[in-house]
Amino acid sequence: MRASLEVTHMYDVQYGYARLHYESLKANNKFRVRRLSDLDKRGFMKAPVGLEKPEQWQGDRFAGDMTDDEIMTFLEQVVTPEIETTICDHFCAEFMITSLLFLSHGQEEDISFLWHCDTGPGPFLKIIVYLNACGGTSFIDRATTDLFRFGGYLFVEERVADLEGLAIRLGIDYSPVTYFPQANEAIIFQPSRVLHRGRVPNEGTRYVASMTLHPSLSHWRKMPSFDLLRVNPGSGFAQFLWPELGWPDDESAKT
Ligand SMILES: [Fe+2]
Repeated sequence: MRASLEVTHMYDVQYGYARLHYESLKANNKFRVRRLSDLDKRGFMKAPVGLEKPEQWQGDRFAGDMTDDEIMTFLEQVVTPEIETTICDHFCAEFMITSLLFLSHGQEEDISFLWHCDTGPGPFLKIIVYLNACGGTSFIDRATTDLFRFGGYLFVEERVADLEGLAIRLGIDYSPVTYFPQANEAIIFQPSRVLHRGRVPNEGTRYVASMTLHPSLSHWRKMPSFDLLRVNPGSGFAQFLWPELGWPDDESAKT
């Protein structure tokens, strides 16, 4: 656990994400009353998105290879009003998209198909958009994830595909939820708070888009540039530099 806490501390303190969260809460004090969704209670949920042609986005691609127009076209079809409200309610703030990549998986082994939590800066969300009906994602809710965590499943070095033996040993009653989404359905979850694993398709190729989201001072459409998406690989995070994003590095100028 210490290793992942140290990485989180590095992101939050040295890379500036704790400050981003703090400034976002200050700038968004209108979000005093919020609706609790499954995203808050269980840590994950499924929601439809509105891609006109999901198949058009299939492939292996990184935001660094896309133009601003392409990125905006994709985001406008994915971030529906329902998703926008749910995420704002979750963060008690506006949000920004901090990484975007497109992935394909066949039947090959992949570390993301074993039970794990992601390591990353403080509060962040992940959206996986299914671009075809192939494969899925399994989740264990927040409270049960904490039991596995405190029971010693650190998912840092050794990940497993089956938690049954550990659950029996620790006396944990657990019921994973598995989604096998259709094309144009997304799952939204707290990747550092809920155990999850991708599900390999029995045949064919699983095409998804994966995005991370963080709290923001202003609406995501007003993000000064998509440069953060172009430097964030999705599984790790780049240093959050205020001036490079177009916000002056000055406390008083942002309030
Ligand atoms: Fe993950």
